[in-house]
Amino acid sequence: MIDSEILEKEILNAVNSASDQDSLEKIRIAELGKKGRISLLMKELSNLSNEEKKEKGSKLNNLKNIITNSISEKKEKIENIELNKRLLKEKVDVTLPVKAQQAKTGKIHPVSQVMDEITEIFGSLGYQIEEGPDIETEHYNFNALNIPESHPARQMHDTFYLPDTNDKGEKLVLRTHTSPVQVRTMEKGEPPFKFISPGRTYRCDSDQTHTPMFHQIEGLVVDKDTHLGHLKWTLETFFKSFFEINTIEIKLRPSYFPFTEPSLEVDVLCDRSGSVLKVGHGSDWLEVAGAGMVHPEVLKSANIDSNKFQGFAFGLGVDRLAQLKYGIPDLRTFFNGDVRWLNHYGFSFLDIPTLSRGLRK
Ligand code: DAH
Repeated sequence: MIDSEILEKEILNAVNSASDQDSLEKIRIAELGKKGRISLLMKELSNLSNEEKKEKGSKLNNLKNIITNSISEKKEKIENIELNKRLLKEKVDVTLPVKAQQAKTGKIHPVSQVMDEITEIFGSLGYQIEEGPDIETEHYNFNALNIPESHPARQMHDTFYLPDTNDKGEKLVLRTHTSPVQVRTMEKGEPPFKFISPGRTYRCDSDQTHTPMFHQIEGLVVDKDTHLGHLKWTLETFFKSFFEINTIEIKLRPSYFPFTEPSLEVDVLCDRSGSVLKVGHGSDWLEVAGAGMVHPEVLKSANIDSNKFQGFAFGLGVDRLAQLKYGIPDLRTFFNGDVRWLNHYGFSFLDIPTLSRGLRK
């Protein structure tokens, strides 16, 4: 039998001089592996007498432990050396220019772009911007707008009701339109009013032309002698500016909304004959807004004397206008977060959000 001290020296020497993980692993297998030297020596023990077995066995076990420990210590050392080498090699030079594919930039969503355009146009016409909450009370969303509980228009709104009430015990909904901001804003101040209110609206509806969340811009003008003629001029001016065309023909069609009297729907003249829908000329009509003269009941909800004041209101579907202006066929693609879509239809954020950034030539 080999002298275990000599063996120990020999193996420890080998372990010490191993310079990488591979050679260390070879040593481990040659000594401690199933067919390794130490394992074979262990097997030979069975031929010895009990006394010798005890003595040599404990020596061998000792040797095995020493070698196992020295191998794992060496392993750790080599790992550290290798790590340090890698760290030295993999230094990052922060002054290098960014690789093109890492420099992907975002784009402005068409909805944000069109919101900016619309607010810019109304801003230039002297409108203020007002906002209201997305979670609205039944009162503002319906009752204050002359849509009482039993009113059939409530069903048409496919409302999302929230399970909880507010601290006054009022039922809460996700607002189905931006019209509640009319009353909220009028309650806070005194006429005259002239504002728009952009925002998100929600209805339990989903198909190619409806998404559960969509965007509207509400408009309201209330003064002593505001009339339908003002509304018509405002809408014409707005649509001309928005579609960036010199002439526009609009049609005010009688309609019904509980919060306006008379109520009308606004159509613009368009051409559907080509592959792209063109607004401003042609022989078809396209519905683009709801509007009307503010119903006296709505003024009353906001404590405004309807004998002294009157006004008009309108509601624009922002997503629809974005689809029309920029030729985007499916409304649902607006909200499914596909970056390729955004890359195609989005706008560069380096441009200041103005109309001039709008139509691409
Ligand atoms: N709130 C209406 C809707 O979502 C749109 C609307 C119609 C708003 C007429 C108005 C209006 O201000 O006068 O269907």
